[in-house]
Amino acid sequence: MPDLSAAALVVDPYPLLAELRGAGPMLRADDGRWVATTHAAVSAVLRDRRLGRLWTDWEPAEHMEPFNALHRHQLMENEPPEHTRMRKLLAGAFGRGHVERMRPRIEDLAASMLDDLPTDAPVDILASYAEPMPVFVIADLLGVPREDHERLRDWSQAIVHMYEQGVDTSVREAAVTASEEFAAYVRDVVERRRREPGDDLVTDLLAEREQGRGFSEDELVATVVLLLNAGHEASVNVFGNGIHALLSHPAELDRVRSGEVDVATALEEMIRFDAPLQMFERTATVDVEVAGASVRAGEKVACLMGSANRDADVFAAADTFDVGRSPNPHVGFGLGLHFCLGAPLARLELEITVRQLLERFPDLALSGRAPRRPTWVLRGFESIEVTLT
Ligand code: HEM
Repeated sequence: MPDLSAAALVVDPYPLLAELRGAGPMLRADDGRWVATTHAAVSAVLRDRRLGRLWTDWEPAEHMEPFNALHRHQLMENEPPEHTRMRKLLAGAFGRGHVERMRPRIEDLAASMLDDLPTDAPVDILASYAEPMPVFVIADLLGVPREDHERLRDWSQAIVHMYEQGVDTSVREAAVTASEEFAAYVRDVVERRRREPGDDLVTDLLAEREQGRGFSEDELVATVVLLLNAGHEASVNVFGNGIHALLSHPAELDRVRSGEVDVATALEEMIRFDAPLQMFERTATVDVEVAGASVRAGEKVACLMGSANRDADVFAAADTFDVGRSPNPHVGFGLGLHFCLGAPLARLELEITVRQLLERFPDLALSGRAPRRPTWVLRGFESIEVTLT
């Protein structure tokens, strides 16, 4: 039965995930969790309102409170009616229309970051381009100073390490410290915006709050932290996993460079082929029959999105990286109630980031070192060294 902490999942999860799909759509893991393996099973679980994201506090509760509080109060860890109320407050800022108006600014930002890259030696394209880029974009949108991007990235990393399987004490300690510091930092930003309103989302959310419609103070802090984290973690890994796949498949790269396939289409395949988020959990609120399994109230289901995205029942030649794949119904942004709020923004910034990089450097190539991060749920590279010219 599946062992979701297997080391093999970090190196190359796909052979093991194929075996799991072969064993059935809904399996029982050694730790009692259900595991949805196929595209149909993952989709059914994510779409079923009787299976929710139900936050369970980490123990010991008092010690873990800074970490627990940031999760208990944010929209992704809540279900209706709280989820509906919070998501509505953010829908406008992250809707397609509002996001599309950010295009010229993101294009200028990408261009100026590419101007600054050294062309005479190999560069780590993640650290020098893909990591700061989405942090700058989400920080600008919220009204958080760009120069703090390294601190934000460190806090975010310490928090998301908790989403892996079987975390140890040092990971918990680091996550608690990061949660404390991150929350204090955001409280400060909120205070500053209260005194000096700006043209940003924190100012808008504070205005809603004054009308008595908005987030509570704890929800506002937790939501800003969530947006800063969710607003870049997956984007960095899509860029890394996707660029690595593209540069390792020269014929596919040519199809994009020649214009045969547009970057927006290729981007969907980058997300499908090597998903940045491999697993999300749901908990049954009542006894439920789903994807042929009888899940009892309180039982957890792990949805293997990376596996669903390689399901041959839905994707022809599912293990082939095909940049022109269309339609491409991957589940990389999730499905149902919690479908990624930031999908239009992620698509826009990644399309610009990848397109400008390819246009600027026609000889872009991997130059050897590209170690993977030792994590599985959030799948990505530690660094990717490339030569630009
Ligand atoms: C390519 C990059 C991204 C990917 C692959 C991605 C993926 C996902 C997925 C799979 C979920 C659903 C989790 C679940 O069902 O349990 C999600 C939710 C979410 N994402 Fe993203 N995301 C990306 C970028 C972003 C960005 C740029 C933002 C910016 C704010 C963002 C904000 C959120 C939020 C707030 C939620 C929670 C939505 C809710 O609970 O209603 N994401 N994302």
